[in-house]
Amino acid sequence: MTDHIQIERRGAVQIIRMNRPDKKNAITRAMYAAMAKALTGGDADAAVRVHVILGVPGAFTSGNDLADFMTVAMGGEGGTEVFDFLVALARSAKPIVSAADGIAVGIGTTIHLHCDLTFATPRTVFRTPFVDLGLVPEAGSSLIAPALLGRQQAFALLALGEGFSAERAKAAGLIYEVVGEAELEATALAAAENIASRPPQALKISRDLMRGSRDELVARIEEEGRHFRERLTSDEARQAFMAFMSRKK
Ligand code: COA
Repeated sequence: MTDHIQIERRGAVQIIRMNRPDKKNAITRAMYAAMAKALTGGDADAAVRVHVILGVPGAFTSGNDLADFMTVAMGGEGGTEVFDFLVALARSAKPIVSAADGIAVGIGTTIHLHCDLTFATPRTVFRTPFVDLGLVPEAGSSLIAPALLGRQQAFALLALGEGFSAERAKAAGLIYEVVGEAELEATALAAAENIASRPPQALKISRDLMRGSRDELVARIEEEGRHFRERLTSDEARQAFMAFMSRKK
């Protein structure tokens, strides 16, 4: 597995922390696998009532590891870890709280579309540069974001790659609350404990009703994934990845 994902249990709350600060929490295949395992394992464990997803100070995540994208762009294997994680997220049986500080790029933004309460700090910027990377939206965001934010805000976020400040993200309905950096994790954990204190079966039915069809969502994740894989080997994507890799040389 990987040290870059830390799992901790506090009572009925399972904390999943991305911890790869030197790469701004860029997510590798091993990290996706560890997070998928934690979500499905926590869902199957009656002692867990809520998942909390955290990053590190200044970096929720810079998104998918671009070196992994580059491997696929050059004809290598992509694996199923990303897909497995996205399905675990989409089918999650228990509420998910997330807390983002600073960088929240790509999946670092779209993950919150699956969360029940997201807290962010004033310095957080949500950004999905999919199109600029020659790619397409993922994680079911092409389905959820227009429904949640409206088509025009979703277009600005997913197609134009506009950065959404925490305040804009809150106004648009992407996140729940903006709190100071010092309070972020304590606030998210208090919210998780509040959720965990509710009658779990009534909560599950209520949440399932609000979420609608998971099958439709997973079908969209698959459809996005087909385009995404095709795009990864496009000239547009290869050039964007090479520009990132060589930018400091
Ligand atoms: N994949 C792999 N490595 C990444 C990464 C990513 N997505 N994001 C950052 N890193 C690495 C950098 O290469 C750098 O590594 P190095 O110190 O070995 O050179 C380190 O993390 C720090 O990043 P740096 O760019 O120096 O930090 P910054 O604060 O100046 O910028 C970002 C942060 C997130 C704005 C910038 O790194 C970035 O744009 N990353 C790519 C984001 C992206 O396109 N993700 C995919 C979305 S689909």
